Amino acid sequence: MEVIIKETPEEMSRLSAELIAEVIRHKPRAVLGLATGSTPLGTYKELIRLHKQEGLDFSRVVTFNLDEYVGLAHDHPQSYHYFMWENLFKHININAKNVHIPDGTAKDIPGFCRWYEEQMVKAGGLDIQLLGIGGNGHIAFNEPGSSLGSRTRVKTLDEKTRQDNARFFRSLNEVPKYAITMGIGTIMDSRQLILLATGSGKAEAILRTCEGPITAMVPATIVQLHPKATIIVDKQAASKLTREYPAEPSVLVLA
Ligand code: GLP
Repeated sequence: MEVIIKETPEEMSRLSAELIAEVIRHKPRAVLGLATGSTPLGTYKELIRLHKQEGLDFSRVVTFNLDEYVGLAHDHPQSYHYFMWENLFKHININAKNVHIPDGTAKDIPGFCRWYEEQMVKAGGLDIQLLGIGGNGHIAFNEPGSSLGSRTRVKTLDEKTRQDNARFFRSLNEVPKYAITMGIGTIMDSRQLILLATGSGKAEAILRTCEGPITAMVPATIVQLHPKATIIVDKQAASKLTREYPAEPSVLVLA
C-alpha cells in the first residue's frame, strides 16, 4: 500500500486521473471500477480533459460503478446513474453498452446483484477501482461492520452516512435508507485500487485506514491487504497521519 500526500485536491485529482489513464493506454479495453461522491469529481474533470485535449480513448473501456441508492429512478438528480452521465460519461467517447451501474429500481435485487457480479467476471475482472471514503471509514456503501469478504448486495445506510449525504437532497427524509453496493470482497478482487480523500473531515478515517489495525469497523482498512493499492490524500485529510509519506508514487503502476 502506497500513501501519497498532495498539497491540494487538484494535485490529488491529476495524479489519480494519470494512474487511470495509464491503465487505459496500456489496455484499451480496460475495465474500470468507478465511484461517486464529491471526491472523485476532480479526477473525472481531468479524465475529460485528457480525452478532449490528449485523445485518451474510452471507446473500448468498460465500467462498473460501486453503488446506487435503492428506489431512485435513473434520471433522479441524486441517483448515481445521473451523477455518472452528467460528470463523466456524456463528456467522453464511452460506449453506453459498456457502462454498468447497479440498478436501484430492479424488482429482484438479489438476482440483480448476482448478475452484476457475473458481468464483472465476464468482462475479465476490474483492472483498477477508484474509491472515496466515508467519514466513518466506509468504502462504496459498505458500512462499519460489513463483512470484509462481502459481495454485491443491499446494505442499510448508517445514520451518519445519510446525514453526510443529506446535503445533496432537499431534506434528510429524502435520503434513501438502502443502497446496492459492491462488497468489500468484490472491491478487493480489482487488480489495482486508488483511494482518495480530501479535507479535515476525512482525517480520522484516513489515519485509521493507513495506520490503524484492519477491522470491519473501518471497512477501508482492508486496503492494507491489497497488493497494489494507492491512497492519495490532500494535506488536510493527511493531517492526523503520524508517519512520513512521499508526494509522488515510487512508480506509475500499470495494471
Ligand atoms: C458515498 C459513496 C461513497 C463515497 C462517500 C464519500 O457514501 N457511496 O462511495 O466514498 O459517499 O463521499 P464524498 O466524496 O462526497 O465525501
